[in-house]
Amino acid sequence: MVNEKRLAGKVALITGGAQGLGAAISRRFAEEGAVVFLGDLNPGTGNKTAAEITEKGGRAFFINLDVTNEDSWTAALALVEKEAGRLDVLVNNAGINIREPIEIMKAENFDTMLAVNVKGPFLGTKHAIPLMRKGGGGSIINMSSVCGLIGHRYTTEAYTVTKGAVTLLTKTIAVRYAKDNIRCNSIHPSTVETPLMMEVFKDPAKKQERIGEVPLGRLATETDVANAALFLASDEAAFINGVGLPVDGGTTAD
Ligand SMILES: NC(=O)c1ccc[n+]([C@@H]2O[C@H](COP(=O)([O-])OP(=O)(O)OC[C@H]3O[C@@H](n4cnc5c(N)ncnc54)[C@H](O)[C@@H]3O)[C@@H](O)[C@H]2O)c1
Repeated sequence: MVNEKRLAGKVALITGGAQGLGAAISRRFAEEGAVVFLGDLNPGTGNKTAAEITEKGGRAFFINLDVTNEDSWTAALALVEKEAGRLDVLVNNAGINIREPIEIMKAENFDTMLAVNVKGPFLGTKHAIPLMRKGGGGSIINMSSVCGLIGHRYTTEAYTVTKGAVTLLTKTIAVRYAKDNIRCNSIHPSTVETPLMMEVFKDPAKKQERIGEVPLGRLATETDVANAALFLASDEAAFINGVGLPVDGGTTAD
């Protein structure tokens, strides 16, 4: 039996690919044979991550991408098409969290969160669909959160609103574009120790709080999330469409 890599021949664009979950997904996809484009605002870290992947024998390229800007998406996808000729997988992973409860949150901060966490995946999907269709289909993976499934007690309202929107963006794309063999699924991690959480974890009690809510008794790792993305990107998930996959050790089952 030929031991073929799980993403052999596939081309993927991962937003927020410079660090954290996006970098972990990019590394995992490259290990399994995909050509990966890391779209991010941060060229310093993004180029470093791409170089690390290349040193290990993968094929990775950094692309300057601001997911809130439509022209930036057009340019990024034109570059992917020029360099790789196709797009099989889009991971809408870039996201931010301005941690202000609703009663004190400034309206402009809410707008910023909507722009990155919701408009980003919306525009990315809009511009990826024609390129995926040309290639005969594809897999779109949206990074939501447990907060896109429940009202999570430690998380603010704005973040929850944006992640809930991603959950249903996923389902409507799954239904409408299945005819083009484009699948769309979302991933819902519980707390992962990435740079996004560093500020919160300065307080060790907060870290314990997060561990305490997980039935499996630990935080999610970047690899837990990357493996879920790998499955959804691969042909093993050919009949998985419109699913919201928790990667949360049972948190949302509680
Ligand atoms: N860390 C967690 O506990 C956790 C849990 C559930 C869901 N998530 C989600 O996973 C995703 C990744 O989170 P992370 O923890 O790796 O975050 P992170 O802060 O470590 O990394 C986010 C990356 O996104 C990039 N980015 C931010 N704004 C951008 C923009 N406008 N255009 C392009 N890139 C942009 C940043 O430069 C950074 O490289 C986010 O959507 C987040 O909401 C994280």
